[in-house]
Amino acid sequence: MIDKIKDYIGEAQSFSTENKEELEAFRIKFLGKKGVLNDFFAEFKKVPNDQKKEFGQVVNALKNAAEEKVKSIVEALESKEETKGVFGDLTRAAEPVIIGSRHPISIVKNQIIDIFANIGFNVSEGPEIEDDWHNFTALNLPEYHPARDMQDTFFIQTNPDVLLRTHTSSVQVRYMENHKPPIRTISPGRVFRNEAISSRSHCIFHQVEGLYIDKDVSFADLKQTLLYFTKEMFGKSKIRLRPSYFPFTEPSAEIDIYWGLKTETDYRITKGTGWLEIGGCGMVDPNVLKNCDINPDEYNGFAFGMGVERIAMLLYQIGDIRMFYENDVRFLEQFKANI
Ligand code: PHE
Repeated sequence: MIDKIKDYIGEAQSFSTENKEELEAFRIKFLGKKGVLNDFFAEFKKVPNDQKKEFGQVVNALKNAAEEKVKSIVEALESKEETKGVFGDLTRAAEPVIIGSRHPISIVKNQIIDIFANIGFNVSEGPEIEDDWHNFTALNLPEYHPARDMQDTFFIQTNPDVLLRTHTSSVQVRYMENHKPPIRTISPGRVFRNEAISSRSHCIFHQVEGLYIDKDVSFADLKQTLLYFTKEMFGKSKIRLRPSYFPFTEPSAEIDIYWGLKTETDYRITKGTGWLEIGGCGMVDPNVLKNCDINPDEYNGFAFGMGVERIAMLLYQIGDIRMFYENDVRFLEQFKANI
């Protein structure tokens, strides 16, 4: 009899199933009212006294083995059901969402757009591959004008009429050709110049140029607009306009902002002067308006242009312009907090 019980213990211990009905059948067979265990308990009276102790121990071992088995299979089945649930474990902490980052050029460009949008400027865009008219001639730079030397140009193949735009002033020409004043627009975009690549200059960079055309626009309006921009962008409230020359504006000026001389970096980036040049500006030359079918006796306006990389380098203390184009993830990841 003892051997028979031991066989049952072996059977109970080696039992396994993933099926609830089979488990229930196992439970009834061993632990049910008419099950194996109750049969053995009923036998107990008939067992000779000297064997009672061993018999009792073995039957108990069978009972434990059967109960343990049922318990462990029930647990296994339950935990499987949980993970199979439609939503999984609803109490689990959320996975962090890994988001990318915007390129610093885009961050700065969007900031500039937002600042000018607040005072009514819209955004205009145009082609990067331009013709001579929009990039030069309409802007008061006739074919043999010496100012064309200011911008060494990439021409497409041997056709001197097809080139990569050297500034986004070309977009403003297109805008004036297609819109009647009043005009308030900024033209952000990529531009190309045939320059040697170094830590400070690149043959590809980005500009934002602005154009304002209406009746009775004054130089004071230009200065006020630029002052508003520098306050918003850099938190600096002192600018100066230095006389300069651009063929498409008259008078023309370079825009300097007062950066200060508080730190060593201030000294370095302003070359010890405290002043920093951020772009060019001026009153639109009447010839340019004429070229775009706008009557210069009725309308006038101002224009300005600045480099996005230069502003980004200032704001983020980036020492080498080439970093913008190398796609080094270690560099780009640093802009994750900005959107
Ligand atoms: N187009 C000029 C440049 O590329 C910048 C500029 C724009 C200057 C508008 C004056 C007015 O350098």
